[in-house]
Amino acid sequence: MKAVIPAAGLGTRFLPATKAVPKEMLLVCDRPAIQYVVEEGLASDADEVVIVNARTKQAIEDHFAPDPDLVALLRERGKDAYADEVERVGNLPVSFVYQDEALGLGHAVLCAADKTGADPFYVLLGDVLVPDNEMLPAMQKVSDQHGGASVIAVMPVADEEVDRFGVIAGIEVEPGVWKVNGLVEKPPAEEAPTNLAVFGRYLLTPRIMELLREVKPGVGGEIQLTDALDALLQEEEMYALVVSPKDGFDTGTRESWLATNNALAAKG
Ligand code: G1P
Repeated sequence: MKAVIPAAGLGTRFLPATKAVPKEMLLVCDRPAIQYVVEEGLASDADEVVIVNARTKQAIEDHFAPDPDLVALLRERGKDAYADEVERVGNLPVSFVYQDEALGLGHAVLCAADKTGADPFYVLLGDVLVPDNEMLPAMQKVSDQHGGASVIAVMPVADEEVDRFGVIAGIEVEPGVWKVNGLVEKPPAEEAPTNLAVFGRYLLTPRIMELLREVKPGVGGEIQLTDALDALLQEEEMYALVVSPKDGFDTGTRESWLATNNALAAKG
């Protein structure tokens, strides 16, 4: 089973910081943001993380590549703790595929189809960090309880914020678990079926890849993962696990990136 991390975006909101450094490589506390997400994926039952990269963002690949010369130099100088960490990060099971055109999140996920194959897989969006690594196992548990169905994490948001997210419709079947019967990407507040927003962690059945090949461009002219999930509901059950804002740390804007640095530093 794989965990897919889309990482081909331009990082526009952080320019000019992201002109030469990919947004995913910006430091959060003591490591690049994407390292948290990779480690979260590998702490689940995924055996490999597949990063959907842009060809211009080589620094992400360098970060996860072995560097025996640097390790040897650090050991020579007695800096074994650094050497161990460089070695560990360079040996994580991470592979790369490429998204050559910015056609949307759904398209980015589809770029990993050859890697995910016939198995269910996770999608982890890098704008939100879950350093305690507990969300994916909780989603897997819900899936196991419902015959291997797809499960998405959702978070309650204020009415005026729903138009920034994918939003679910459904019914609560047990405390904190909803059976999903519709999804809509970035609806105006008055059209939102609930205020449960798609949070950026998905456990998906392989059928979604077929639907992503067929789905038409949606909001913003992009191939939306949310639209393919809505189509999947015609064929399969889907569940949503309600998570709390304190389960995740947003790094998607300058303000939230700074707040996340402070919060994680304070956590120690
Ligand atoms: C994406 C998804 C959206 C989801 C959001 C979570 O939107 O399309 O459904 O709610 O991530 O962060 P984006 O933030 O890429 O516009």
